[in-house]
Amino acid sequence: MGKLSGKVGLITGAASGMGKASAELWASEGAKMAIVDVQDEKGEEVVNGIKSRGGEAMFVHTDVTKVAEIEKMINTTVEKYGRLDFFWHNAGNAGPGLVERTSEEEYDFTLSLHIKAGFFGAKFAIEEMKKIGGGAILFTSSLAGLKASRSSTVYSICKSSLVMMTKCLALHYGQYNIRTNCICPGAVNTPLWPSFMGRDSDKNDAKAVEDAYIAKTPLHRFGQPEDIAKASLFLVSDEASYVNGAILTVDGGISCS
Ligand SMILES: NC(=O)c1ccc[n+]([C@@H]2O[C@H](COP(=O)([O-])OP(=O)(O)OC[C@H]3O[C@@H](n4cnc5c(N)ncnc54)[C@H](O)[C@@H]3O)[C@@H](O)[C@H]2O)c1
Repeated sequence: MGKLSGKVGLITGAASGMGKASAELWASEGAKMAIVDVQDEKGEEVVNGIKSRGGEAMFVHTDVTKVAEIEKMINTTVEKYGRLDFFWHNAGNAGPGLVERTSEEEYDFTLSLHIKAGFFGAKFAIEEMKKIGGGAILFTSSLAGLKASRSSTVYSICKSSLVMMTKCLALHYGQYNIRTNCICPGAVNTPLWPSFMGRDSDKNDAKAVEDAYIAKTPLHRFGQPEDIAKASLFLVSDEASYVNGAILTVDGGISCS
């Protein structure tokens, strides 16, 4: 028996990076998984990998900036697997850089991707979780959601909103046995990481930024997608049955400085 046997999980942004590693880990613990992303080929690869190891998964193509698609993704999951126990809004981008270089389109898109998708994903997930007597919601914030940044104001606005969304949902939906928690990763070695460069014109050298980050991190290494996956497994599993409204940094301790 896996830790998530009999459960159904949905992760947005699960074709890549920390979402992919987490979907694979949850599936290995017995959860049936909805792999949500806009990258069809990579999403199908994740599904095939899970199935080849004896797990169960399906790919649900969804652009999470569109509320109608979010509703459909939840319905598709429940139609196929009969229930929804875990919803994790993890999809994201690095967002635009300095304020004076940010267009209205970039601003609207980034807020939709991070905040609106999390809000409406939770809305439709909560309806399903109430029907089965509970569930767990997760959001991916960032250290940028906890600490001000010089070069990524829009991203920081989004990620701090997810921290507050976590607390608001935890406060109200705990009574329905729906726990809401949030992970704040530090720098993690995923395909997204290089796109955090260049938002601030004097910080384009990825290697230099990476070396400086590792030097400042108490554990002296970069985060790996698997580090986030293990934290997410804990937060949705029964081992975290009294954890609600937690903002969990998974960052090697860099936020302590
Ligand atoms: N990598 C880091 O250092 C880091 C640090 C802190 C927080 N984060 C956050 O972690 C989350 C996961 O990022 P990652 O590093 O694993 O990146 P990633 O690029 O590997 O994965 C993100 C996934 O989101 C998907 N996605 C993007 N837009 C989408 C949309 N409109 N609809 C559906 N899916 C969409 C992408 O296709 C991609 O597969 C993001 O929210 C990111 O902001 C990353």
